[in-house]
Amino acid sequence: MKFTDSPVIQLQVRDSQLSIQQDNGSFHVGTSVWPCSLVLAKFVERWAPSSPTTTTDNPYYDLLDFHTRCRRAIELGTGCGAAGMAFHLLGLQDIILTDISPVMPALKHNLKRNKPVLGKNMKTSILYWNNKDQIRGVNPPFDVVIAADVVYIEESVGHLVGAMEALVSDDGVILLGYQLRSPEADKLFWEMCEKVFVIEKVPHQDLHPDYAYEETDVYVFRKKKNNNN
Ligand SMILES: C[S@@+](CC[C@H](N)C(=O)[O-])C[C@H]1O[C@@H](n2cnc3c(N)ncnc32)[C@H](O)[C@@H]1O
Repeated sequence: MKFTDSPVIQLQVRDSQLSIQQDNGSFHVGTSVWPCSLVLAKFVERWAPSSPTTTTDNPYYDLLDFHTRCRRAIELGTGCGAAGMAFHLLGLQDIILTDISPVMPALKHNLKRNKPVLGKNMKTSILYWNNKDQIRGVNPPFDVVIAADVVYIEESVGHLVGAMEALVSDDGVILLGYQLRSPEADKLFWEMCEKVFVIEKVPHQDLHPDYAYEETDVYVFRKKKNNNN
Protein backbone atom coordinates (compact mmCIF):
# COMPACT_ATOMS: atom_id res chain seq x y z
CA MET A 1 0.00 0.00 0.00
CA LYS A 2 1.45 3.36 -1.04
CA PHE A 3 -0.36 5.28 1.70
CA THR A 4 2.02 6.03 4.55
CA ASP A 5 2.43 8.18 7.62
CA SER A 6 5.11 10.03 5.76
CA PRO A 7 4.58 13.81 5.81
CA VAL A 8 4.69 13.87 2.01
CA ILE A 9 2.82 11.54 -0.36
CA GLN A 10 4.08 11.27 -3.93
CA LEU A 11 1.46 10.41 -6.52
CA GLN A 12 2.51 9.69 -10.08
CA VAL A 13 -0.21 10.66 -12.57
CA ARG A 14 0.89 9.72 -16.09
CA ASP A 15 3.95 11.93 -16.77
CA SER A 16 3.45 14.19 -13.77
CA GLN A 17 4.20 13.75 -10.11
CA LEU A 18 2.05 15.28 -7.41
CA SER A 19 3.66 15.90 -4.06
CA ILE A 20 1.09 16.20 -1.31
CA GLN A 21 1.90 17.31 2.19
CA GLN A 22 -0.21 15.86 4.98
CA ASP A 23 -0.53 16.41 8.70
CA ASN A 24 -1.71 13.25 10.42
CA GLY A 25 -1.50 14.92 13.82
CA SER A 26 -4.17 17.51 13.13
CA PHE A 27 -7.65 17.45 14.61
CA HIS A 28 -9.21 17.35 11.12
CA VAL A 29 -9.23 14.15 9.06
CA GLY A 30 -9.06 16.24 5.89
CA THR A 31 -5.43 17.18 6.51
CA SER A 32 -4.39 13.56 5.82
CA VAL A 33 -4.33 11.83 2.44
CA TRP A 34 -6.58 8.76 2.54
CA PRO A 35 -6.08 5.63 0.41
CA CYS A 36 -9.52 5.93 -1.24
CA SER A 37 -8.46 9.11 -3.00
CA LEU A 38 -5.35 7.41 -4.40
CA VAL A 39 -7.30 4.31 -5.48
CA LEU A 40 -9.90 6.49 -7.22
CA ALA A 41 -7.25 8.64 -8.91
CA LYS A 42 -5.24 5.67 -10.14
CA PHE A 43 -8.39 3.89 -11.44
CA VAL A 44 -9.14 6.98 -13.51
CA GLU A 45 -5.52 7.25 -14.62
CA ARG A 46 -5.73 3.67 -15.89
CA TRP A 47 -8.84 4.21 -18.03
CA ALA A 48 -9.28 7.91 -18.87
CA PRO A 49 -8.53 8.38 -22.59
CA SER A 50 -5.25 10.25 -22.90
CA SER A 51 -6.47 12.03 -26.03
CA PRO A 52 -9.82 12.48 -27.76
CA THR A 53 -8.77 10.04 -30.45
CA THR A 54 -7.85 7.12 -28.19
CA THR A 55 -10.78 4.85 -28.96
CA THR A 56 -9.31 1.49 -28.14
CA ASP A 57 -11.33 -1.18 -26.40
CA ASN A 58 -12.03 0.71 -23.21
CA PRO A 59 -15.16 -0.07 -21.17
CA TYR A 60 -14.77 3.25 -19.34
CA TYR A 61 -14.25 5.43 -22.41
CA ASP A 62 -17.59 7.26 -22.22
CA LEU A 63 -17.52 7.55 -18.44
CA LEU A 64 -14.04 9.07 -18.35
CA ASP A 65 -13.92 10.95 -21.65
CA PHE A 66 -12.93 14.31 -20.21
CA HIS A 67 -11.73 15.65 -23.57
CA THR A 68 -14.66 15.70 -25.96
CA ARG A 69 -17.56 16.17 -23.59
CA CYS A 70 -18.21 19.23 -21.53
CA ARG A 71 -17.13 17.99 -18.14
CA ARG A 72 -17.88 20.35 -15.31
CA ALA A 73 -16.89 18.72 -12.05
CA ILE A 74 -16.83 19.15 -8.30
CA GLU A 75 -15.19 17.20 -5.50
CA LEU A 76 -16.81 16.85 -2.08
CA GLY A 77 -14.60 16.47 1.01
CA THR A 78 -11.43 17.02 -1.01
CA GLY A 79 -9.08 17.11 1.98
CA CYS A 80 -5.52 17.67 0.77
CA GLY A 81 -6.67 17.53 -2.86
CA ALA A 82 -5.04 14.30 -4.08
CA ALA A 83 -7.98 13.02 -6.15
CA GLY A 84 -9.04 16.41 -7.48
CA MET A 85 -5.53 17.35 -8.59
CA ALA A 86 -5.10 13.97 -10.27
CA PHE A 87 -8.42 14.31 -12.10
CA HIS A 88 -7.32 17.72 -13.33
CA LEU A 89 -4.07 16.26 -14.68
CA LEU A 90 -6.13 13.57 -16.40
CA GLY A 91 -8.09 16.14 -18.38
CA LEU A 92 -10.89 17.32 -16.11
CA GLN A 93 -10.09 21.00 -16.53
CA ASP A 94 -13.12 22.60 -14.93
CA ILE A 95 -13.25 21.24 -11.40
CA ILE A 96 -14.02 22.84 -8.03
CA LEU A 97 -12.44 21.31 -4.94
CA THR A 98 -14.56 21.71 -1.81
CA ASP A 99 -14.32 21.04 1.90
CA ILE A 100 -15.08 22.55 5.30
CA SER A 101 -13.30 25.79 6.20
CA PRO A 102 -10.70 24.34 8.66
CA VAL A 103 -9.36 22.09 5.90
CA MET A 104 -8.95 24.91 3.36
CA PRO A 105 -5.42 25.94 4.48
CA ALA A 106 -4.11 22.38 3.90
CA LEU A 107 -5.86 22.19 0.53
CA LYS A 108 -4.63 25.60 -0.62
CA HIS A 109 -1.11 24.84 0.56
CA ASN A 110 -1.08 21.67 -1.57
CA LEU A 111 -2.53 23.41 -4.61
CA LYS A 112 0.18 26.04 -4.37
CA ARG A 113 2.85 23.41 -3.81
CA ASN A 114 1.76 21.59 -6.97
CA LYS A 115 1.07 24.63 -9.14
CA PRO A 116 4.12 24.02 -11.37
CA VAL A 117 2.69 20.59 -12.21
CA LEU A 118 -0.96 21.66 -12.35
CA GLY A 119 -0.18 24.70 -14.47
CA LYS A 120 -2.91 26.83 -12.96
CA ASN A 121 -4.72 27.86 -9.82
CA MET A 122 -7.44 25.29 -9.26
CA LYS A 123 -10.82 26.47 -8.01
CA THR A 124 -11.78 25.85 -4.39
CA SER A 125 -14.92 26.53 -2.42
CA ILE A 126 -16.01 26.04 1.17
CA LEU A 127 -18.92 23.63 1.01
CA TYR A 128 -20.57 21.97 3.97
CA TRP A 129 -22.91 19.25 2.77
CA ASN A 130 -25.83 20.59 4.81
CA ASN A 131 -25.46 24.15 3.54
CA LYS A 132 -27.96 24.76 0.75
CA ASP A 133 -26.68 28.28 0.08
CA GLN A 134 -23.15 26.97 -0.47
CA ILE A 135 -24.52 24.24 -2.74
CA ARG A 136 -26.46 26.81 -4.78
CA GLY A 137 -23.37 29.05 -4.75
CA VAL A 138 -21.26 26.58 -6.75
CA ASN A 139 -23.89 26.67 -9.50
CA PRO A 140 -24.96 23.07 -10.05
CA PRO A 141 -25.55 20.82 -11.90
CA PHE A 142 -22.20 19.13 -12.58
CA ASP A 143 -21.39 16.40 -15.08
CA VAL A 144 -19.06 14.73 -12.59
CA VAL A 145 -19.13 14.67 -8.78
CA ILE A 146 -16.12 13.09 -7.08
CA ALA A 147 -15.80 11.97 -3.48
CA ALA A 148 -13.31 9.75 -1.66
CA ASP A 149 -13.61 8.35 1.84
CA VAL A 150 -16.43 10.61 2.91
CA VAL A 151 -18.75 8.11 4.62
CA TYR A 152 -17.76 7.80 8.26
CA ILE A 153 -20.19 9.86 10.35
CA GLU A 154 -23.76 8.58 10.52
CA GLU A 155 -25.17 12.05 11.24
CA SER A 156 -23.63 13.45 8.04
CA VAL A 157 -24.83 10.72 5.70
CA GLY A 158 -28.20 12.33 4.90
CA HIS A 159 -26.52 15.64 4.13
CA LEU A 160 -23.88 13.98 1.97
CA VAL A 161 -26.42 12.06 -0.10
CA GLY A 162 -28.57 15.21 -0.39
CA ALA A 163 -25.56 17.22 -1.59
CA MET A 164 -24.63 14.55 -4.14
CA GLU A 165 -28.18 14.51 -5.48
CA ALA A 166 -28.36 18.31 -5.64
CA LEU A 167 -25.00 18.68 -7.39
CA VAL A 168 -25.00 15.97 -10.08
CA SER A 169 -26.84 16.57 -13.34
CA ASP A 170 -29.58 14.19 -14.49
CA ASP A 171 -27.15 12.59 -16.96
CA GLY A 172 -24.06 13.03 -14.80
CA VAL A 173 -22.03 10.61 -12.72
CA ILE A 174 -20.73 10.39 -9.19
CA LEU A 175 -17.36 8.69 -8.81
CA LEU A 176 -16.85 7.46 -5.27
CA GLY A 177 -13.80 5.98 -3.59
CA TYR A 178 -15.21 3.97 -0.71
CA GLN A 179 -14.01 2.21 2.39
CA LEU A 180 -16.11 1.01 5.30
CA ARG A 181 -15.39 3.24 8.31
CA SER A 182 -18.52 3.01 10.44
CA PRO A 183 -21.10 0.19 10.15
CA GLU A 184 -23.94 2.60 11.04
CA ALA A 185 -22.88 5.21 8.48
CA ASP A 186 -22.32 2.48 5.89
CA LYS A 187 -25.80 0.97 6.34
CA LEU A 188 -27.58 4.30 6.16
CA PHE A 189 -25.50 5.51 3.21
CA TRP A 190 -26.29 2.52 1.01
CA GLU A 191 -29.97 2.50 2.02
CA MET A 192 -30.30 6.16 1.04
CA CYS A 193 -28.22 5.87 -2.14
CA GLU A 194 -30.18 2.87 -3.42
CA LYS A 195 -33.32 5.01 -3.38
CA VAL A 196 -31.93 7.77 -5.60
CA PHE A 197 -29.03 6.33 -7.62
CA VAL A 198 -28.31 3.44 -9.91
CA ILE A 199 -25.11 2.02 -8.41
CA GLU A 200 -22.30 0.18 -10.17
CA LYS A 201 -19.26 -1.20 -8.40
CA VAL A 202 -16.05 -1.24 -10.41
CA PRO A 203 -14.67 -4.79 -10.48
CA HIS A 204 -11.43 -4.99 -8.52
CA GLN A 205 -9.54 -6.27 -11.55
CA ASP A 206 -10.27 -2.92 -13.24
CA LEU A 207 -8.60 -0.89 -10.49
CA HIS A 208 -4.97 0.09 -10.93
CA PRO A 209 -2.99 -3.04 -9.98
CA ASP A 210 -0.66 -1.07 -7.70
CA TYR A 211 -3.59 0.66 -6.00
CA ALA A 212 -6.13 -2.12 -5.45
CA TYR A 213 -6.79 -3.07 -1.86
CA GLU A 214 -9.34 -5.55 -0.62
CA GLU A 215 -11.03 -2.99 1.62
CA THR A 216 -11.29 -0.14 -0.90
CA ASP A 217 -13.80 0.14 -3.74
CA VAL A 218 -14.72 2.51 -6.52
CA TYR A 219 -18.40 3.05 -7.31
CA VAL A 220 -20.19 4.84 -10.13
CA PHE A 221 -23.58 6.37 -9.29
CA ARG A 222 -26.10 7.77 -11.76
CA LYS A 223 -29.41 9.37 -10.88
CA LYS A 224 -32.40 7.10 -11.26
CA LYS A 225 -34.55 8.32 -14.15
CA ASN A 226 -37.77 7.45 -12.38
CA ASN A 227 -39.00 5.54 -9.37
CA ASN A 228 -39.33 2.29 -11.33
CA ASN A 229 -35.56 1.85 -11.93
C1 LIG B 1 -11.52 10.95 5.52
S1 LIG B 1 -11.38 12.56 4.84
C2 LIG B 1 -11.06 12.22 3.13
C3 LIG B 1 -10.29 13.35 2.49
C4 LIG B 1 -9.93 13.09 1.03
N1 LIG B 1 -11.10 12.91 0.22
C5 LIG B 1 -9.02 11.89 0.90
O1 LIG B 1 -9.53 10.81 0.52
O2 LIG B 1 -7.84 12.01 1.17
C6 LIG B 1 -13.09 13.11 4.78
C7 LIG B 1 -13.27 14.52 4.23
O3 LIG B 1 -14.66 14.87 4.24
C8 LIG B 1 -14.79 16.19 4.76
N2 LIG B 1 -16.11 16.34 5.39
C9 LIG B 1 -16.57 15.63 6.45
N3 LIG B 1 -17.80 16.06 6.78
C10 LIG B 1 -18.11 17.06 5.93
C11 LIG B 1 -19.26 17.90 5.77
N4 LIG B 1 -20.32 17.79 6.56
N5 LIG B 1 -19.24 18.81 4.77
C12 LIG B 1 -18.17 18.92 3.97
N6 LIG B 1 -17.05 18.15 4.06
C13 LIG B 1 -17.03 17.24 5.03
C14 LIG B 1 -13.66 16.29 5.77
O4 LIG B 1 -13.33 17.62 6.11
C15 LIG B 1 -12.55 15.55 5.07
O5 LIG B 1 -11.78 16.37 4.25
